[in-house]
Amino acid sequence: MITARPSVPSQPVRRAGIVGLGMSVPDLVVSNYDLEKRVDTSAEWIRTRTGIQERRIAGDSITTSMLGTQAALNALRDADISSQSVDAIICATTSGDYLWPSTACLIQQGIGANPICAFDVAAACSGFVYALDLGAQYIESGRAETVLVVGADTLTKQLNWEDRSTCVLFGDGAAAVILRSCNPDEGLLATSLGADGGGSELIWIPAGGTKTPISHCVLDKKLNTIQMRGPEVYKFAVKVMGEVAIDALSRCGLTCADVDLLIPHQANIRIIQSAAERMGLCQDRVFINVERYGNTSAASVPIALSEAVKAGRIQHGDIVVLVGFGAGLTWGANVIRWSRDESDCRKTDSTTGGLE
Ligand code: ACO
Repeated sequence: MITARPSVPSQPVRRAGIVGLGMSVPDLVVSNYDLEKRVDTSAEWIRTRTGIQERRIAGDSITTSMLGTQAALNALRDADISSQSVDAIICATTSGDYLWPSTACLIQQGIGANPICAFDVAAACSGFVYALDLGAQYIESGRAETVLVVGADTLTKQLNWEDRSTCVLFGDGAAAVILRSCNPDEGLLATSLGADGGGSELIWIPAGGTKTPISHCVLDKKLNTIQMRGPEVYKFAVKVMGEVAIDALSRCGLTCADVDLLIPHQANIRIIQSAAERMGLCQDRVFINVERYGNTSAASVPIALSEAVKAGRIQHGDIVVLVGFGAGLTWGANVIRWSRDESDCRKTDSTTGGLE
């Protein structure tokens, strides 16, 4: 397990704080009732087993980079910062528009940024937690003054719509944050990250990469779509979410009792509730929006963070824990002491959604 920013006594001189947030989701809402008309499932099964009631679907005309670009523009507006001020762009995604170039490069062009450093991070649903840690290191080291971190995915384009055990779970979206240096006792205090390639086949897309390129056989067998051993992923998720959050908290001398708000990866409400229970957190200290978006992969945690801020659930000084898990297997948690004074911030639509 990689840990970053070890405990408070060896604080870096600079810390990274979030100064702007934005999100973007497609307009098309697909409810469980819509799905039960086209898939062998029931709205009730989906709701009771996952907590999901509806999700946003990008369709053919909206790409991951379009959602990421709009989320980034919304975050820049929220921070009142010009795209010309951005020094680095990190995009967490595993459903980029192309195998390459990276989605971060497309976002760089989309927001009209200078020809700066831009790259993607592939850690599936843990991607944003990984990318936030990387972005913070650019700020802490003094390599950058302003970093844009985006989580964007359109996994519904990678689904087998005849596989009811996966196609009901996912949705599309993006969200972004702007990082700048903040007071040394605020911002991103600690991160804990982990990965176990031994579980790579628990949730994966077996073909379409260089090992098994696209072929007629691959397409016939739908091996270019998400395959998942759900119950095994479930058990892994419940265990690792609590563990990694507690580890990250301990890295900065905190415990679960210090947590004001947990922002978990929104894959399944039962996974979230079990993890919260293991951490001893009551429901009012956990943010949940899985019912409206389903699992948006790398966008899930930052969309939840954006909505939590918009809903007034986070105040200056609060301890906020972001925690994710996903394919790889990967997992991670960030501990943030909220550095922005929300009462001073402009309340615009920039933290909500809607691809403009
Ligand atoms: N509708 C109706 N029945 C279904 C559906 C569906 N959509 N999907 C599965 N079932 C059936 C199964 O076929 C099974 O039937 P059987 O008992 O006759 O064989 C039954 O429901 C129970 O299946 P389980 O898989 O045991 O159901 P479970 O309660 O475990 O819920 C679920 C399944 C929701 C997939 C759960 O295991 C889960 O959430 N797992 C974690 C998935 C996850 O988080 N993935 C994202 C990883 S993040 C990333 O990187 C992308």
